[in-house]
Amino acid sequence: MKIQGYWLASGILGVTRSIIRKVAASGADAIVTKSVGLSPRKGHHGPIITHSHGGLLNAVGLTNPGIDNFAEEMGNLHEFNVPIVLSIFGNTIEEASAVAERAVHLNPDAIELNLSCPHAQIGQIAHDPNMTFEFVSTVKDIVDCPLFAKITPNASDYVSVGIAAEEAGADAVVAINTLRAMKIDIYQKRPVLGNLVGGLSGPPVFPIAVRCVYDLSGALSIPIIGVGGVTSWMDAVEMHLAGASAIQIGTALLQGTDVFTKIKNGVARYLDEQGFKSVQDIIGAAWRSRNGH
Ligand SMILES: Cc1cc2nc3c(=O)[nH]c(=O)nc-3n(C[C@H](O)[C@H](O)[C@H](O)COP(=O)(O)O)c2cc1C
Repeated sequence: MKIQGYWLASGILGVTRSIIRKVAASGADAIVTKSVGLSPRKGHHGPIITHSHGGLLNAVGLTNPGIDNFAEEMGNLHEFNVPIVLSIFGNTIEEASAVAERAVHLNPDAIELNLSCPHAQIGQIAHDPNMTFEFVSTVKDIVDCPLFAKITPNASDYVSVGIAAEEAGADAVVAINTLRAMKIDIYQKRPVLGNLVGGLSGPPVFPIAVRCVYDLSGALSIPIIGVGGVTSWMDAVEMHLAGASAIQIGTALLQGTDVFTKIKNGVARYLDEQGFKSVQDIIGAAWRSRNGH
């Protein structure tokens, strides 16, 4: 599949027929499923969602039906004529291999390997380039479609993690997952989320996502799929300038699915006004201008 356009990010909306019909009709160029693991997972106890400083704080905990039970939902998704990226995770190499083997049978257009949920066990993988290499290369050997590695800004050296993913054969890196964060109820005097810690998404994470995409695009040769706080066409342009070939949109969708149309129209207007023929002309342009081109 082509790594371009504006995609539904993993885990934000359910993947029922009616939701996906709406998202596809609103112009999403691809749909990334919720991350699916080997066995069904209930996730963390509540509260699992709260708000803070204009962002969303979630500790859903990778709730999912397990890969074997996901076949039916996946079948429903294929009818919409939009590429489907199946997001998978495994807590161990053996688990990741088992999920990948089953994932292939669901015929996704690509697989996104979640190495980075900040409120689940797998959160640690993308902190370590060696572990990232092992997980990505194992899954890459199994799957026959493009493989994307989703990494985290919570790692101190996410650029080395991105390089490890590329060396292991990833076809693109997805940056970023949510940031570890907390909200405390000042009257109850304790953390709001049942899991205490959650992942922050939405507008407050946008500048961090831009920095990560920029750093990664300077170090990698594979495409970067930018995600994190993109809410408007201006954000999308900025993310492309930082180096994102495609952009995923998550939290902004909670305001309505028309965000895809608004972003696409706004970016098209910007390109036209600025005299660019296509979005390709601005991908990574912030690097080129720094280098004096
Ligand atoms: C409620 C919720 C559930 C999420 N579930 C997943 C998930 O299952 N797998 C995953 O890789 N990312 C998951 N994410 C992270 C998003 O895909 C995205 O990386 C992050 O929210 C930043 O983008 P945004 O600011 O546009 O939402 C989830 C985010 C939220 C808010």
